[in-house]
Amino acid sequence: MPLHPRTGAIRRSPIIRGYLPTDRRDVYEVCLRTAAAGGDATGIYRDPDLMGDNFAGPYLHLEPELAFVLDDGGRVVGYVLGTSDTAAFAVAFRRAWLPRVADRHPAPAGTPSGPDEEMAALLHRPERMIVPELRDYPAHLHIDLLPDYQRAGYGRALLLTFLGAARRAGAERVHLGMLTENTGARAFYDRLGFHQIDVPDPGPLSYLGRSTEADG
Ligand SMILES: CC(C)(COP(=O)(O)OP(=O)(O)OC[C@H]1O[C@@H](n2cnc3c(N)ncnc32)[C@H](O)[C@@H]1OP(=O)(O)O)[C@@H](O)C(=O)NCCC(=O)NCCS
Repeated sequence: MPLHPRTGAIRRSPIIRGYLPTDRRDVYEVCLRTAAAGGDATGIYRDPDLMGDNFAGPYLHLEPELAFVLDDGGRVVGYVLGTSDTAAFAVAFRRAWLPRVADRHPAPAGTPSGPDEEMAALLHRPERMIVPELRDYPAHLHIDLLPDYQRAGYGRALLLTFLGAARRAGAERVHLGMLTENTGARAFYDRLGFHQIDVPDPGPLSYLGRSTEADG
């Protein structure tokens, strides 16, 4: 079995396959372990499902056909997920996803204070995803791999898998929002042909986009 070049961990040769409902817990785990600007967010949030309920669960629930996992033969060690139509997704998020998790993560009463309230506030405002400058990039995505599986080409393979599926679903272009401080991810997206899209008041985020064509 190959060893990870940096960590020395034993890494089985994983495969990319479509998401199955039995993968949900593993996907949430990968989400949490990569949610601190690419690093492990375990312990940052009082509720360990808060990040998953914000950034993984709604896609798995609403658009499972656009979710793909990296399976090492025993568990999911990475994923890509998203939507082909961000505006429709935001509507479905409010109508069909938020009611499932709203009681567990109530909207903060006033100005959000602390990491849990800040994330809960995002959860309760799915319309934040609709940004006029991103209108020509209707799909969006999230991609995360556990550290032992990074820098081995799986991110590229997962991303290209998603682009193909989003294109077949009708999206000609895709965008993503990423924490600007996550310079490793930015290097990855630059290598994968994304360009920056200027958006007013982006806060801590950078928005990137590209065509869903494989060589786009
Ligand atoms: C970012 C991430 C998805 C990239 O996936 P990956 O499997 O590590 O990347 P790949 O091995 O497929 O790399 C593809 C290309 O990007 C480059 N690249 C990837 N990560 C890089 C990094 N941290 N720094 C510099 N270049 C990087 C690779 O060198 C490769 O370049 P090449 O075209 O010369 O071969 C993955 O590292 C990850 O999940 N990181 C933690 C979570 C995260 O930050 N997710 C993104 C949130 S916005």
